[in-house]
Amino acid sequence: MSIQQNLNTLRHPVSNQPEKSPFNAGETLQEQTSKLNVLLLGSGGRECALAWKMAQSPRMEKLFIAPGNGGTGEYGTNVAISPLDFPAIENFVADNAIDMVVVGNEDPLVAGIYDYFEGREGAPLIVGPSKAGAALEGSKDFAKQFMVRHSIPTARYRSFTADNLEEGYAFLEQLKAPYVLKADGLAAGKGVLIIDSLQEAKDSLKEMLGGMFGQSSATVVIEEFLSGIECSVFVLTDGNGGYRILPVAKDYKRIGEGDTGPNTGGMGAVSPVVFADKEFMRKVEERIILPTVNGLVKEGITYRGFIFLGLINVDGEPMVIEYNVRMGDPETEVVMLRIASDLLPLLEAAAQGNLSTLPLAEDPRYATTVMVVSGGYPGSYPKGKVITGTDNVKDATLFHAGTKLGENGELLTSGGRVIACSAYGENIDEALSNSYAAANAVEFDGKYFRRDIGADLKKLMK
Ligand code: AMP
Ligand code: GLY
Repeated sequence: MSIQQNLNTLRHPVSNQPEKSPFNAGETLQEQTSKLNVLLLGSGGRECALAWKMAQSPRMEKLFIAPGNGGTGEYGTNVAISPLDFPAIENFVADNAIDMVVVGNEDPLVAGIYDYFEGREGAPLIVGPSKAGAALEGSKDFAKQFMVRHSIPTARYRSFTADNLEEGYAFLEQLKAPYVLKADGLAAGKGVLIIDSLQEAKDSLKEMLGGMFGQSSATVVIEEFLSGIECSVFVLTDGNGGYRILPVAKDYKRIGEGDTGPNTGGMGAVSPVVFADKEFMRKVEERIILPTVNGLVKEGITYRGFIFLGLINVDGEPMVIEYNVRMGDPETEVVMLRIASDLLPLLEAAAQGNLSTLPLAEDPRYATTVMVVSGGYPGSYPKGKVITGTDNVKDATLFHAGTKLGENGELLTSGGRVIACSAYGENIDEALSNSYAAANAVEFDGKYFRRDIGADLKKLMK
C-alpha cells in the first residue's frame, strides 16, 4: 500500500469519530484567519527558537513564554509561571484570552497538562499529547511495547524490575557487549548507560533497580546495542492520522570533540542530514511514522503535537532508539530555521485535529547551531557570568538557553547550555562558519563549545 493510500484509508474511518476540538466546523474556518494569543511553556533554546518562529506569523496576536529566558523576551512577554503549575497556567489562560498553549518541554506533558485542560470550559488548544501519549517518552518500557505491537523496527529488549533481577542477569549473558541499560522513566537525559563489561552491566542493573535514578529506574529496559549513525526526525501529528514531517536534524550529545566524554543536553545540530535521503526517509515514513501515527489512533491515544523519533541508521535501515513527545533541543534551533511555512497555522491545525490541508515547506538552505556552554558543564558550573559580544554577531541568530537578565538589564548566564548560535548557509561549511563566528563573538568567563559540529556529516559527503 502506498503511503498516500494508507493515509486515506486511515483518515476516513477516523474522521467519523467525534471531534474533540472546541470549535465546530464553521467556527474553525473563522478561527483560521483570526489572530491567536499563544502561551509557550519552557525556558530553553528550543523555546527561544519556537518563539522566534511563531512570532513571525501574521496570525500571532500576543505571545507569552512561561517562564522563558533572557532571550525569549525579544519575541514575546516572559511570565513567571512554572510549566508544571497547571492551576496558575489555567488562570493565566483565562486572564489573557489565550487561544493556544504550545508545550515545549516534556515534563508538563508527562504530568498530564493535556488531560488537565480537556473538557474544561474555556480550555485553550493544546499542542502536545495526552498523558497516555506522553508515556512514549515517560516510560521506555511502554514505548518498546508500543513499537513491538506495531512492528516498528527497534532493538531487541526485555524489561526488568527488582523482582526478576536474576532473569536480568541471564538476559545480559545472552547479549553481546556493549550492554545498553535504560531507566524506564524520565531521568533528565541521564538514564541510559552503555557498558562494555558484563560484570559492570550486572552491577549497574542492580544499582539502577536499587534506586540509582530514583523511581525512574524501578524498571530497567535492557536492549541490544545498535551500531550506526543517529538522526532526529520530527513529526507534527493531529491525532486523526494526519501528519507533517519536519526537516531532519542531527544533534551532538557528548561534551567532547569526536563524541567523547559525558552526555549533555546537546552541543550542536545540523539540518539537513546527508544520509537521510529520499530512500531512507521513505523507509522511515513507511516503517516508522505511519505505524506510529496510525498506532496511536488505533489505540485511542490522543496525540496532537510533536513526535520526536530518535533514529539510528543501521546499514541503511532506520531503527528507533527512542521516542520523545516534544521537539529536540538543540535540533529545534536548526529545524525552525528550515521551516519556510508559517508554523502557527500548522500548530493550530494539529491541535484542532485537522492538519490534512496545510503544507509544510522546507527552506533548501543548510542550518547549523553551535551551543556555547558554561565551563564545567555537564558537571557543576558557575552561574551569573556576564555575557558580552552578542551585539557583534552578524549572519547568525542567537537562541538563548541558559541566560537571564540581571537587575540592570545585563545579560547573565543561568544554565549549562547558554546560547545556541544558529545560522543558515548555502552549504554546510557556510552555515558552520556563520555559527562559529557567532560562537567566537559571544563572550563570558569559562565559555566552551565543540569545534567539530557537523564534521562527521562532512566526511560522509566526501
Ligand atoms: P536515549 O535516551 O534512549 O536516546 O539514549 C541516549 C543515547 O544512548 C542515544 O542517543 C544513543 O546514542 C544511545 N543509545 C540508546 N540506545 C541504544 C542502542 N540500543 N544502541 C546503541 N546506542 C544506543
Ligand atoms: N537533543 C536531544 C533531545 O532533545 O532529547
